Amino acid sequence: MDVIEVIVAKRDGQELSEAQIAWVIDAYTRGEVADEQMSALAMAILLNGMNRTEIASWTQAMIRSGERMDWSALDRPTADKHSTGGVGDKITLPLAPLVAACGAYVPQLSGRGLGHTGGTLDKLESIPGWKASLSNEEMLSVLRSAGAVVCAAGSGLAPADKKLYALRDVTGTVESIPLIASSIMSKKIAEGTGSLVLDVKVGSGAFMKTPERARELAETMVALGTDAGVRTVALLTAMDRPLGRAVGNALEVEESVEVLAGGGPADVVELTVRLAREMLEAAEISGPDPADALADGSAMDAWRRMITAQGGDPDAVLPQAAESMTLQAEEPGVLARLDAYAVGLAAWRLGAGRARKEDPVSFGAGITLHTKPGDEVRAGQPLMTLHADETARFERALEALRGGYEVGPASAQEALPLVMDRITAQ
Ligand code: URA
Repeated sequence: MDVIEVIVAKRDGQELSEAQIAWVIDAYTRGEVADEQMSALAMAILLNGMNRTEIASWTQAMIRSGERMDWSALDRPTADKHSTGGVGDKITLPLAPLVAACGAYVPQLSGRGLGHTGGTLDKLESIPGWKASLSNEEMLSVLRSAGAVVCAAGSGLAPADKKLYALRDVTGTVESIPLIASSIMSKKIAEGTGSLVLDVKVGSGAFMKTPERARELAETMVALGTDAGVRTVALLTAMDRPLGRAVGNALEVEESVEVLAGGGPADVVELTVRLAREMLEAAEISGPDPADALADGSAMDAWRRMITAQGGDPDAVLPQAAESMTLQAEEPGVLARLDAYAVGLAAWRLGAGRARKEDPVSFGAGITLHTKPGDEVRAGQPLMTLHADETARFERALEALRGGYEVGPASAQEALPLVMDRITAQ
């Protein structure tokens, strides 16, 4: 097989055969196809797309590049959730133990944040002692003792995707629906979950800015999962404003614990419970209601077991940033708009996120939102508090927030409904 022929075929808008795709993914993983050749192919795919058959072959080839995990030794169904990422999206933290408390096993491989959206592993690593890297045997043991495990994907899982994602990141080829869908689903299928709920975010703080693009991504991923034998459903959910009131690693852990204690912001609770119900339905578990498991403390018990089993101390004091500053409303009115991207970018500049994947994050940095869109405010009332380890970070964070929120006399701008749509296999 000749890599130039494959690149030229896609450049000219032709369909790639299963054999061409299998060969190019395998040869790239082994280093036989060079980065510059794969980046040309990725750009041709971004510009000319791939049809459903090509995307399925691409995904299967990436799965075959590494190991496929197997949870058949477990005596209950497995269920997982994947979010395409958003600002203040800490849902995995309360959701995984909640679903475990309702009777499913939740084996979740998660990632670190890059850019303005946070990563689940960064959030959990703000808990003293908690470790993200587990062997497969350790994962199984945490699952057996706690019902849920959230950890880093090992290097053996879809190595082709690891290499290709890093390349796409530096070649302007991330924003291709076929490449995003196959990247996410190759990892989720290789992870071995029996059922999967996808939370596809829509809005300024999300990868997908419009409902049309989000729906296309969701439909593509649901079809890939279903064809691979994983019961898969997707929700399209709002990411035009941040989720909850906390943005930043330790701040989001604190908010998640509030939810597990039966409190927490209404939008975080609503989405957690809705996703939990979807996961249980996909796993064919009927009976337990996730809202009851939050109220009766059983989800909190599962959280404590899960954190402890991974070396963390659920009672430890979480890291706090050394410096803070509070923004106040200059005039009375209504918080008419609070843009998710502006808040995510500001939190990132405060130190909550990283610019390069090897950078450290500040666990205490981030933003606490005292008001949410639609809230009435008085002049001088605190709108949000910024947290950072150095005061020097405030200026650039404030720049990111400029124009990102608006207090005015008018009523709040029409917000997207929290759950916008539900996509199932066609
Ligand atoms: N997340 C992934 O895992 N892959 C992508 O391509 C985009 C987001």
